[in-house]
Amino acid sequence: MNDRMEKIVSLAKRRGFIFPGSEIYGGLAGTWDYGPLGVEVKQNMKREFWNTMVRMRDDVVGLDAAILMNPKVWEASGHVASFTDPLVECKVCHERFRADHEDELRLHENTHEGKKVEWTEPKTFNLLVEAGLGAVEGEKTKVYLRGEITQGVHVNFKNVLDSSRKKIPFGIAQIGKAFRNEITPGNFTFRSREFEQMELQWFVKADEGEAMRWFEFWKNERMQWYRELGIRSENLRFREHAPDERAHYAKAAWDIEYASPFGGWSEFEGIHHRGNWDLSRHSEFSGQDLSYFDEATKERFIPWVIETSGGVDRAILFFLIDAYREEGERTYLAIDRRLSPFKVAVFPLLANKPTLVEKAEAIYRALKPFMMVAWDDRGNIGKRYYSQDEIGTPWCVTVDFDTIEHDTVTVRDRDSMKQERIPVSELIATFQDRLR
Ligand code: GAP
Repeated sequence: MNDRMEKIVSLAKRRGFIFPGSEIYGGLAGTWDYGPLGVEVKQNMKREFWNTMVRMRDDVVGLDAAILMNPKVWEASGHVASFTDPLVECKVCHERFRADHEDELRLHENTHEGKKVEWTEPKTFNLLVEAGLGAVEGEKTKVYLRGEITQGVHVNFKNVLDSSRKKIPFGIAQIGKAFRNEITPGNFTFRSREFEQMELQWFVKADEGEAMRWFEFWKNERMQWYRELGIRSENLRFREHAPDERAHYAKAAWDIEYASPFGGWSEFEGIHHRGNWDLSRHSEFSGQDLSYFDEATKERFIPWVIETSGGVDRAILFFLIDAYREEGERTYLAIDRRLSPFKVAVFPLLANKPTLVEKAEAIYRALKPFMMVAWDDRGNIGKRYYSQDEIGTPWCVTVDFDTIEHDTVTVRDRDSMKQERIPVSELIATFQDRLR
């Protein structure tokens, strides 16, 4: 892992963003736990996605489908047959790797210094994670933990259509956990075995021109979303998948990629043209009619789907990497205020002066119903600023002797480090305004 990544992984653990899963038992590869600060960032990320994709639109509704689904779903979706990666095994140590990840293979070969490393022929390896369901040992039903959150939307297409009365084009958004038996989980949370996705399935007329117009629209919307939330433009790009690289369901696929410190341009989010693959396969396998009747044209057809599919954990990782800054002694996270775990930190200038502590506490309590607020009365003010900078708190409020006299506080900005005096009576409105 390179130096920058090591610093981010260490900061994430030390400050309570992300911990290795089941750490006291030696961990479980590809699983991660979000700590007190990480859980805040995760909720903020999901809320931003939901606000943009559902709340602010009239043509998208939400869904929260079950993780466990009838196993026929995964036969119909093609995942049982085709959700595979090519696997090779090192003949020296029998460790297994993705055959298509050349860099990882070369890195591994270098660990066997002086030995000629040979690899087995690539085998296809299914990524679905299996579980057993039922109360009788030996007679459990084999089910899969969902390999993508998408299928919950497609099997509910009719339910959503009938209950919401939406007309095509319209979308169904969902956020939730997915599970993949990744051959080589790694690069911190980038490739995990349990992770969260945030997706939109956008249903359109069965028409190539119409589908591609929406494909372009959603590609650009999603790129704009990452930029607007603060990822630097020079670290983002689009990349089209070659035909032999596309998932089994995709007629066209583009990735939004991020210039990662560990692997160069890396997949951030996928935009896929899924055609009628899912709905027609579920119609066929379930025997249910999943077609759509267009009142205007009096036509009945199976809609096509344009999908945007991003990873919540991958987004958090890339936002942390992008926001990480070092300036002399100071390390700070220039993360957007909408994503930062705390919005404001409140300090009494001196922890041993009851008048200052009481006033600071009153301000802290007054702000709390409106935003996530941190409290710190340890060490000196400089140390407290550095500590909040490192976790990305945009503003620090210091209660000093002027506060007692004039009822104003010092508000210090994380990025510019500029300080201003603001009347206590205006604090809530000021921050609410800045957080909008
Ligand atoms: N429904 C389409 C779908 O799942 P995908 O390209 O396989 O498409 C979409 O996954 C996104 O989910 C990826 O762009 C990535 O952000 C996230 N993702 C996929 N596999 C992941 C993994 N093993 N760990 C973390 N995030 C992952």
